[in-house]
Amino acid sequence: MEIFAHRGLNHQAPENTMTAFRLAHESGLDWIETDVDILGDGTPVILHDSTLDRTTNRTGSIYNLTAADLSKISAGVHFDGPNSEQYAQEPIPTLDDLVDFLNETGMGCNLEIKSNEAGGEMSLNLLEAVEERCFQRLKDRSPERLLVSSFNHVLLYIIHQRHPEIATACLYTKDNLWPDALSVCELVGAKTIHPQNEGLTPEIIKHLKQANLTINVWTVNDPTRTRELKDLGADGVFTDIADEMTTALR
Ligand code: G3P
Ligand code: MG
Repeated sequence: MEIFAHRGLNHQAPENTMTAFRLAHESGLDWIETDVDILGDGTPVILHDSTLDRTTNRTGSIYNLTAADLSKISAGVHFDGPNSEQYAQEPIPTLDDLVDFLNETGMGCNLEIKSNEAGGEMSLNLLEAVEERCFQRLKDRSPERLLVSSFNHVLLYIIHQRHPEIATACLYTKDNLWPDALSVCELVGAKTIHPQNEGLTPEIIKHLKQANLTINVWTVNDPTRTRELKDLGADGVFTDIADEMTTALR
């Protein structure tokens, strides 16, 4: 069972920060999951939300920002886990920071390309930024080390056309998974599917397995549910407690 540290080891450090990724690596984990979007000036950054409100000391849309603004933003101020006081200066990483880390450590990465809420042209800008700053710079783009996912399946289709060697995964929420997921995955060239845990039944998993899809489920923080998913044929889970989940499954 593959265990993905969802947004890094985010119960030990602020989500989607270099510290959360480093802690995942130091804990012996093999895979992180993280999210990429772009600022208004085209700089690709590692951030889940399209606004700063939930995770930083600032508010407002990231689509109005430039790279120069990043030095004024802390991605650690809302963290309430261990050693929270030490994250006041924790920056939002750029995609370059992430790729440097992956090249240095060899960690596997599921890079989720956010469905850019600024619209179609920005989505294509984001895709080009990922091509330039990740695909071109990352040393190991093998399916064992890089998996690109998105709720935007059109982006995955374009990636498959341009870079057929890159492994892709279609993200689905519980509300839109069935019945078209199999045909969409086939159409866009994705051999992996990332369904939401909620609403994922044994029957659905059976259908996905019959289509030879690799199944990684988000977000599962209960070891009992992880064991159940494993027994049903799921291949991996995204979890906020990746270190503890790994221990629990031993
Ligand atoms: O990629 C799995 C999961 O991260 C998808 O949802 O909202 O946490 O990015 P979200
Ligand atoms: Mg994500």
